[in-house]
Amino acid sequence: MLVIMAFLIVLLLSGNTKGEKVLHAFQNQIMNCNEKTVLQCNISSSMQLNIVDIYWTKHEEKGFKCDPRSSDNTPGFECNYTREALTLTILYPTPVNMGTYFCCIRMDSGHGKDQINVSLGECRGEFSQQMAGPKQKECSFNSVYPDGIINWFHYDKNVTSNSTVTSLKNSDGTFNISSILNIQDNEERYNCSLWSLNNGQYFKYQEFEVEVEVDAGSSPISSTGNISTQHCLSCTHLLLALMFSLRKYLSL
Ligand SMILES: *[C@@H]1O[C@H](CO)[C@@H](O)[C@H](O)[C@H]1NC(C)=O
Ligand SMILES: *[C@@H]1O[C@H](CO)[C@@H](O)[C@H](O)[C@H]1NC(C)=O
Ligand SMILES: *[C@@H]1O[C@H](CO)[C@@H](O)[C@H](O)[C@H]1NC(C)=O
Ligand SMILES: *[C@@H]1O[C@H](CO)[C@@H](O)[C@H](O)[C@H]1NC(C)=O
Ligand SMILES: *[C@@H]1O[C@H](CO)[C@@H](O)[C@H](O)[C@H]1NC(C)=O
Ligand SMILES: *[C@@H]1O[C@H](CO)[C@@H](O)[C@H](O)[C@H]1NC(C)=O
Ligand SMILES: *[C@@H]1O[C@H](CO)[C@@H](O)[C@H](O)[C@H]1NC(C)=O
Ligand SMILES: *[C@@H]1O[C@H](CO)[C@@H](O)[C@H](O)[C@H]1NC(C)=O
Repeated sequence: MLVIMAFLIVLLLSGNTKGEKVLHAFQNQIMNCNEKTVLQCNISSSMQLNIVDIYWTKHEEKGFKCDPRSSDNTPGFECNYTREALTLTILYPTPVNMGTYFCCIRMDSGHGKDQINVSLGECRGEFSQQMAGPKQKECSFNSVYPDGIINWFHYDKNVTSNSTVTSLKNSDGTFNISSILNIQDNEERYNCSLWSLNNGQYFKYQEFEVEVEVDAGSSPISSTGNISTQHCLSCTHLLLALMFSLRKYLSL
């Protein structure tokens, strides 16, 4: 009697009545940053399947669910199924979308599940540069992944020790990394490069040559510019006034 009970419990826990694996997926998948990615679990069964429930979940993310029959799914995802496969489309992959996804199926006869471990390649992000002060050049790499450091070079000379780097994490898992270099002489050219940690070693990932503008960032030059514009405006006013008075004089 006990043996039969145990056998029935094992049968129930094994999910499918025939012990057959219904869902099949490749265990690992790599996404490209911001490039639409489709995860797929193939459905195969020797019997007719009466599907009660079919959906996707994500490991350690309780709020995540995608159900092809629901319109209330996690934003940024679409899912679908046919008789052959259950798919999950990640519209704009970012670092927070990495992790383990489960495709799940519940039928009259039991349930099935498989998993896909999803990782992400590099996010290039956007480079920008500016003068942070009269003798300070700033380089920024926004929305990059993975995190990194910025090194500065003046030709062969590593001048990184005269810079400070900051890294801020965005909600999508990417980083804004910026560095300010204190420069000694104006009219200099520098290379500002982003280095990322890979297998415990830093490697150069992106590099831009930047030029330090003479006097840029200091107020005198911009106010001189404004003064000269005002100057020109008053010149025009004067000229117009002169012309008007001349016309008046001539018409009299
Ligand atoms: C799922 O089916 C597609 C199309 O038939 C096939 O290319 C793919 O290799 C299958 N995946 C697995 C994990 O068997
Ligand atoms: C789901 O699949 C159906 C049938 O193949 C198709 O018409 C529909 O556009 C798909 N929906 C999405 C969101 O891909
Ligand atoms: C998922 O894949 C990544 C990279 O391929 C690996 O580092 C990680 O250990 C894997 N996790 C699981 C649960 O397989
Ligand atoms: C920047 O790097 C390039 C090659 O990586 C080199 O040819 C160039 O001279 C460097 N420029 C400066 C200002 O260091
Ligand atoms: C850093 O700056 C100081 C003074 O501004 C200068 O003497 C020194 O040579 C600089 N170091 C590097 C590596 O450029
Ligand atoms: C440049 O200097 C910084 C700090 O001074 C150091 O961490 C970094 O490894 C150096 N980079 C290279 C390529 O020598
Ligand atoms: C990163 O940079 C982007 C673009 O400049 C900005 O919108 C965002 O707020 C920055 N993130 C953080 C954490 O500062
Ligand atoms: C000079 O003019 C620019 C726009 O032309 C303006 O943004 C700037 O604030 C002005 N600077 C001063 C010191 O008035």
